[in-house]
Amino acid sequence: MKKILYVGSECMPFAATGGLGDVMGSLPAALKASAGEEADVRCVIPLYDKVSEDWRSEMKTEAIFTVELGWRKQYCGILSLEKDSVIYYFVDNEYYFKRGALYGHMDDAERYAFFSLAVIEMLSRIDFYPDILHANDWQSAMSIVYLNLCFRQKQGYEKIKTVFTIHNIEYQGKYDMSILADIFGIDWKHTGLMEWDNSMNLMKAAIVCADRVSTVSPSYAKEIQRSEYAHGLENLLIEHNYKLSGILNGIDYIYNDPHNDPDISKKYMWRSLKGKVENKLALQGELGLPQRADVPMYSIISRLVAHKGTDLVCEIGYKLMHEKDIQLVVLGTGNAEYEEYFRELEKQFPDKVRALITYDRKLSKRIYAASDIFIMPSKSEPCGLSQMIASRYGAIPITRETGGLADSIKGYWVDNGDIKGNGFTFANYSSAELYDRICAAYELYCDQKAFKKLQQKVMKTDFSWGISAGSYMELYNSI
Ligand code: GLC
Repeated sequence: MKKILYVGSECMPFAATGGLGDVMGSLPAALKASAGEEADVRCVIPLYDKVSEDWRSEMKTEAIFTVELGWRKQYCGILSLEKDSVIYYFVDNEYYFKRGALYGHMDDAERYAFFSLAVIEMLSRIDFYPDILHANDWQSAMSIVYLNLCFRQKQGYEKIKTVFTIHNIEYQGKYDMSILADIFGIDWKHTGLMEWDNSMNLMKAAIVCADRVSTVSPSYAKEIQRSEYAHGLENLLIEHNYKLSGILNGIDYIYNDPHNDPDISKKYMWRSLKGKVENKLALQGELGLPQRADVPMYSIISRLVAHKGTDLVCEIGYKLMHEKDIQLVVLGTGNAEYEEYFRELEKQFPDKVRALITYDRKLSKRIYAASDIFIMPSKSEPCGLSQMIASRYGAIPITRETGGLADSIKGYWVDNGDIKGNGFTFANYSSAELYDRICAAYELYCDQKAFKKLQQKVMKTDFSWGISAGSYMELYNSI
């Protein structure tokens, strides 16, 4: 039996802010479901104050010990609960994790150094030595580094193999080299390992130390070896590309299921799309938009930041609203100027636009269920999950051909009556190309029969974890 431990800074449904939390919350259970008795799958995250009382009441205490981080001696509790045949561990220290927001604190370097070291220390305390330790993103990168630098000689730790997954290379965990010994408790003789471009770089150190490095789509695995995408790590990744691969994420097919979703107005499936129209009418009612079944509803559910392609949408928003009989619903928060743009667009076109400047998972489900077309024109996208969720709810995606978007959504065309592709795509980072695809989707919408056919095909596209969970198992077996 293979023992696998996932390490990360967030995990649905306990505490999450984005895609990493979705993956941590669905991949371990999917892997367990497909491997059955062949795998013992566990997962560890910090015990944030965000984790609800309901979950806490299910937890039991596994161990209590002291973590020595440099000169600091810090309390550490390990709690656990079981869910979907996966054991979830929670690292408890209120000083570090009772903070409200998950990230964005002055001492994030120290908080996640503590977490990573606590995870490695935990293994001997609970007597669980995984075959594979799988860390995700910079916050847990140090677990692999500590394992290699400080624990390899200890009994039980010798043979643990490691995988590091990059969910977004933009966030590397870069700090001033001066805190190496004080905060991380790492000897200066490891400066070479920890340093990149004159700073300490946690992601870099994990890439060097890990047995395998993966990222969340095959295209992104290639892109991050190029300077346009790599945020300075391209040469490192070229050097280590012998151990680099890309595995496309899946989505949680139980949580994201229009046929069985308690959060939407009317359940539906690809066979009968009438229920989807009822969701549109209901959302229009809720948002005070004209209640019309015939108008195509476009949506954007995204952080409103530059790399999501928000500026492309801003370039064409007014033109689009002047020229087309459509509705646009935008959900998300981000840069103040984008938020303001969409608020203003709504003011100018109150019968067409709704700017919902907030983060609300349940509302996002109602929007996926209501909308006909989903816009996601990212500048870069490691994988992207929203285009997959949109597809599952029958909102046809318009995406730019980059990273995981390129791997999951292919352009629509008809070959001798046969539908090819599962969305509308464009290659260049250009608002004219985006506009063109928005119009192409509009035209198809006007031919309801053809539109429904594509919609049904899109809904049936398999974005479950099935295939990718198998690919991870192969990766683990290959080490
Ligand atoms: C990050 C990436 C996103 C990916 C997610 C899960 O949030 O930006 O593209 O889908 O991680 O891997």
